Amino acid sequence: MARYGILTSGGDCPGLNAVIRGTVLQGTTVHGQEFVGFRDGYRGLVYGDIRPLNRLAVRGISRNGGTILGTSRFGPYSEPDGGPENIKKVLERLEIDGVIAIGGDGTMAAANRLYEDGIPMVGVPKTIDNDLEATDFTFGFSTAVEIATDAADRLRTTGDSHQRCMVLEVMGRHAGWIAIYAGVASGAHVTLIPEAPETLDQICRWVTEAAERGRGPLVMVAEGFTLPEMDDAYSDKGLDEFDRPRLGGIGEILAPLIQERTGIQTRATTLGYIQRGGVPTAFDRVLGTRFGQAISDVLADGDWGQMVALRGTQIERVPFTDAVGHTKSVPLDFYRGARALFG
Ligand code: F6P
Repeated sequence: MARYGILTSGGDCPGLNAVIRGTVLQGTTVHGQEFVGFRDGYRGLVYGDIRPLNRLAVRGISRNGGTILGTSRFGPYSEPDGGPENIKKVLERLEIDGVIAIGGDGTMAAANRLYEDGIPMVGVPKTIDNDLEATDFTFGFSTAVEIATDAADRLRTTGDSHQRCMVLEVMGRHAGWIAIYAGVASGAHVTLIPEAPETLDQICRWVTEAAERGRGPLVMVAEGFTLPEMDDAYSDKGLDEFDRPRLGGIGEILAPLIQERTGIQTRATTLGYIQRGGVPTAFDRVLGTRFGQAISDVLADGDWGQMVALRGTQIERVPFTDAVGHTKSVPLDFYRGARALFG
């Protein structure tokens, strides 16, 4: 019986457990496959740290956030113990015929490199940021948008009561998908995304217009947004394990600037990890389950080097290289449409 290992890597994301469950159920009932889980992302693969994954182990997990396997930003090539030769030995010793990597851009890049180095790898794309080019949507995004929209709705009531400008910072390193969706959904008066720098003057004009109608203006800002005079996205937290600046804090930078220019009392809230945690929406559970089932079919066909993707309403297979290094930005016409309603 063919036996496969599943790992979840990178930032956690609502819907990961639905993928694990979908894979195990489809694999065991339709294809007669067996599964184990690698603990904590690529670390589990490099050190052969596994746990059994049978039908019982995945019972009822789709409704839970996080990942039952644990995750990390451990790179399979970055440690002396890593690398393809070591991993081949681990897989041989544990009698594992192939690996499913569930993760974002960094995870898929590592999976592709391992695949090119002769390891049988397949992938499932994941990120709350929804910024992977290969797929129309990633699971986790819908949950993050719901949470951000709820937070915005709550900020609007307190902002209206105090006639304050409320700035809400959401995640979105390279792309402003969460911000634009939650901004449109909550009727934010300004939404700022990495793809479209806006001047402080313009932002303050919109804020003032909204305030003049007697509203507490709401400014939604993605963490990767930059003012025209900024070289890079705001970061004061050092680097992460992939040597990327840890973002967060642009809302706190903007709030005093807006207050100073407009004279309107302004408060900032950073939503942070709340938008990655908790119960996944039904959409994310369904997409995760479908991705999981589809990746089990990919294994059954021995279609290595492929990942699953949502194209329209269909689940398709695409090579890793379609996802790696290609950021899916918010289209400018989408932004322009939202921008027409700012102020
Ligand atoms: O999953 C992507 C993301 O949500 C980014 O928007 C954010 O910059 C990053 O994760 C932060 O996560 P961590 O602190 O776990 O690296």
